[in-house]
Amino acid sequence: MNNQTTSLPVLIARNLHRDFILNGNKTLKVLQGVDLEIHESEMVAIRGLSGVGKSTLLHCLGLLDTPTAGELIYRDGDSTWQSPGLSEKIRCALRNQFIGFVFQFFHLLHDLDVLENVMLPSIVNSTSREWRKKRGRVEARARELLQKVGLEDRAHQAPGTLSGGERQRVAIARALINDPRLLLCDEPTGNLDSRNSDSIHTLLRELHDELGTSILVVTHDPDLANRADRLLDMVDGKFERREQL
Ligand SMILES: Nc1ncnc2c1ncn2[C@@H]1O[C@H](COP(=O)(O)OP(=O)(O)OP(=O)(O)O)[C@@H](O)[C@H]1O
Ligand SMILES: [Mg+2]
Repeated sequence: MNNQTTSLPVLIARNLHRDFILNGNKTLKVLQGVDLEIHESEMVAIRGLSGVGKSTLLHCLGLLDTPTAGELIYRDGDSTWQSPGLSEKIRCALRNQFIGFVFQFFHLLHDLDVLENVMLPSIVNSTSREWRKKRGRVEARARELLQKVGLEDRAHQAPGTLSGGERQRVAIARALINDPRLLLCDEPTGNLDSRNSDSIHTLLRELHDELGTSILVVTHDPDLANRADRLLDMVDGKFERREQL
């Protein structure tokens, strides 16, 4: 389903640039004028050669990195936030509440069990009093998400005892615990074999269709790219052309 024409954007990027200074003098221009809109309930895939700037873009969009120039606008209902111009407190809140991240290498905490890993983004930024109040509700939601990703019976297992595909399922549940408006996935199946990749592709599409979360996914995998509503090709630090699927 492509809602681009009927729905509002949750994220707008205008003329984003990201330069890196190498060895104190040489400038590496990575993002070179990225324009992008991600609409409500849209699934968009980005592909491009290694080193073209896909992860750099996701880090900028996810407020993990700061663009050298350009503008970012986040929208949730009637609320909008525009960067630059955000306080560190608002950037943290957007990173934690508005955006969910799924990375190639899962990044689960091995001292916590599966359920605690899923609940973690909800604990961050809570005072102990707030946490005591919301813990029951968060745990119920975490168990619900574990059920959606097919791991409800693994809640108290250590992440180290799970397969790669199962760890990515936990990471996806964790990314969804705060009901983000936008899920950013950086090569979510880049570290998985084809069978596990296929089941993660199906899961992402199902979660997208069920929850209506907008998804922006960077992938080298044609199967995942083909499941998106829209496919963008990144060339020389910007998008070359748009292809409606
Ligand atoms: N912090 C940094 N300092 C200097 N250069 C960087 C930094 N981060 C990224 N780069 C450079 O920016 C370029 C783009 O990197 P990026 O990781 O965004 O590529 P990518 O498209 O995600 O590639 P891949 O498909 O291999 O993951 C690369 O040349 C990389 O070396
Ligand atoms: Mg990358």
